[in-house]
This record gives sequence, C-alpha cells and structure tokens, in this order.
Amino acid sequence: MRPALNPLVLSLKESATLAINLKALELRRKGKDIVHFGFGQSPFPVPEMIQAALRDNADKKDYLPTQGLPELCEAVSEFYKTEFGYDFKPSDVCVGPGSKELIFQIIYLMEGPLLVPVPSWVSYGPQAALRGKEIIPIPTSRENKYRLTPELLDRACYSAGQSQKLLIFNNPNNPTGALYHENEIKELAEICRAYQVIVISDEIYAMIDFDEWPMSSLATFYPEGTIVSGGLSKSFAAGGYRLGVVLIPDSLELMMSALKSVVSETFSAVSAPVQYAALKAYGDFEKVRPFVEKTTDIYEYVMNFLHKRFVDMGLNCPKPAGSFYLFPDFENFKEQLRERGIITSGAMTNALLAESSIAVLPGSDFYMPATSLSVRVAAVDFDGARVMESWPGADHVTEKYLREFLPKIEQGCEYIEGFLSGLG
Ligand SMILES: Cc1ncc(COP(=O)(O)O)c(C=O)c1O
Repeated sequence: MRPALNPLVLSLKESATLAINLKALELRRKGKDIVHFGFGQSPFPVPEMIQAALRDNADKKDYLPTQGLPELCEAVSEFYKTEFGYDFKPSDVCVGPGSKELIFQIIYLMEGPLLVPVPSWVSYGPQAALRGKEIIPIPTSRENKYRLTPELLDRACYSAGQSQKLLIFNNPNNPTGALYHENEIKELAEICRAYQVIVISDEIYAMIDFDEWPMSSLATFYPEGTIVSGGLSKSFAAGGYRLGVVLIPDSLELMMSALKSVVSETFSAVSAPVQYAALKAYGDFEKVRPFVEKTTDIYEYVMNFLHKRFVDMGLNCPKPAGSFYLFPDFENFKEQLRERGIITSGAMTNALLAESSIAVLPGSDFYMPATSLSVRVAAVDFDGARVMESWPGADHVTEKYLREFLPKIEQGCEYIEGFLSGLG
C-alpha cells in the first residue's frame, strides 16, 4: 500500500542529530573505534536526588493540569527569577515533553515568518516547514564569530515587511558555543522592540556558560515580547526524562491560552512522576547547584582543550563560551579537499567518519551553505560519571588523566589531524 502523506511532512528527513547518532553507534557495535562528536547529549548521570524523586513518585498516576503541576510552575518561575532575574509568574509557565515540542507548538500557533540566524540548531527549520511557515535565514559571518548583530536583524526585519515576525534566538548557542554579552542583547532588544518581533529565546543551555560575563537574555531587556524556553535536558543531564518548559509573558497572554488548547488536544500533560522529579530539580536547586557547577567546569575544560587543538591544527574556530559545542571549519584545507573531490561539508563529514572514524555533523545541517566546510562538534564523548568522580579541577588535569578519563577527546583530535595530514 502507498499511503498518501501530508505534503508538508514529505519534505522532512529524520533529524540529522538522531541519524548520525544511530550511524556512529552502529559502527561502534561492529567493533570500530569511533569518536562520537555527533550527538549533543549530556554525558553525566542525572543527579541522584532527581532520580530519587522520580522513583519516589512512581505512584503518581493521575493526569496533571495541562500547564503542568502547579508546584512545578511555581518552582520554575522562582528559579528563573532567582537565577536570571526574569519576571515571570507561575501562571506564565507551561510544562511540556521537552522544549523541542514546546518550541514546535509555539511556532505552530503563530502567524508570520520565522527568522532564523544561521547557523542554527537543526530542528527549527523542519518545525517551521511542518507548519508551512516561511523561514527567513539571517546569515552571520565567521569573522564575527557567527553572532547575530543588530544590523543583520534590522535588515532581516525590514525586508520581511509588515507581517508579524517570530525570531528564534538561541543563547548559549548550539552549534557555535557563543554566549552573548549584555550590550549585544540590549542592542538586539531595541531592534526587536522597534519591529514588535516575538522572540523565542531558546535557553536550554542557560546554566552551561563559562566566560567572564554572565548569561544575558532578551527576557530582561525585551520582556514584553520574549518567550523563554528551557528544561531538564542539558544542565540537569536528564534529556531522556523529556521535560521542557516555556515562560510566556503576560503581554502575550493570548498565546498562553492558545498553547493550553493545543497541549490539551495533543499530549495532555507531561508524565506525572517526571514532573515531580523536575519539581525537585527546580524547587531544590541549591542542592543541584554543585552538580551544575562541577559539570560546567568539566565542559569548560574540554571545550577549551578542543578549541586550542583545533586552532593549532589549522582549523578556524570561534572560542566557545557556553553550551558544549564547537563550530570549526576546514576552509584552510579547501584546495586539498577539492583535489580529493570533497567540496561540501556533507561529503567531508562522510569522509571523516568513513576514513578517520570520527562522527561530526556537517554545517549544512545547521543551514550553512553546502560548500562552507564547517562542522559541528559535540564535545561530550566521555564517561561523565567517571570523570565527575575523579575530576581534579581544570588546573590539575595531566596527560595521564586525559588518557585515562577523557580518551576520546584526545583521540578525536588525533583522528582529525590524521585526516588532514592524509590530504597532503
Ligand atoms: C538549541 C537546542 N534547543 C532545544 C533543544 C531541545 O531540547 P529538549 O527538547 O530536550 O528540551 C536542543 C536539544 O538538543 C537544542 O540543542
């Protein structure tokens, strides 16, 4: 039988990150010594107190309110107030099965095009495509570390005309590891206000920032138009729990009531035991804080290590300051790659995996031009539990420690160096 499918769905392929994960794991199962820098998942165990809360609440069987467990909504609004100074009430919070689903639902219920800075996380485009929504890419430049500038945003808004505009803004950033300064955010806020842009501020990596400046958000400088999304997946290391949150300001109240309707007609509510576990994470954050700080310290070390090695081997790579990703490019090897018949980032990542056993994602999955030769590196191929237990602090990491506890990080660099020297 050949079912007739919704044409909007036909244009989609399996999510690039999930596909590379399966391919790399399959090769590993066949015995290949793969370095897996393809899949962005926290390598650390879920903090024990959150696991315990999940176990202790296995008996919670009733459907919860559409917006989420009221105590959880309260804890989430309090958490964002204390940690980031945002002014959201418990009734501004909606809980969903991952922030990915919530972002999709918001895109779904909004009119107008979606402005997407390039490069951007892989799923925004397909989500907009599923709604038949126009996407307006805003290309950024490597010279400017792939940052969205007020000039670029202004130009994109201006050319989009009069229609309502939705901007997805991810900070700290996947794939570039960028973390925006307060001054940059203030300038972007002015442009957003001028064009009345509705912003989804994707802050899923919000606690994983390690530069001298603290995390800054459009929710502070443009609160009336900014929706914040976050969840348990990254800094709480619980991606598989599938719990995300959005915070929608009062000024966009209509959107919250529409979202509640869509939620009630689709997933109804997130699994009750998981919401109780999330209540522990957000409500008792002081007890989780040491975990978040230690894991962020480890990410910082690994990211800095990779950044230095990448630059030393001749790759261009902006220095990351948050999340757990780097976005190097191989432009300096363009000629040699071309001689090998490799002219796209997709062909290059295939060659890297086939010849050098290293899995990374092509820049083209992040909306870069196919020939840009950029790749996204997820710096998380290590046993997080072992590293946490033995972590000596960034200043005391020795070569012996690296070999024993972070072997794939060093090996990944060697594999890329091997690939480059094979180019001649
Ligand atoms: C930038 C970005 N936003 C959102 C998500 C979705 O996270 P979740 O659905 O697990 O909350 C991810 C996950 O990889 C991401 O990288």
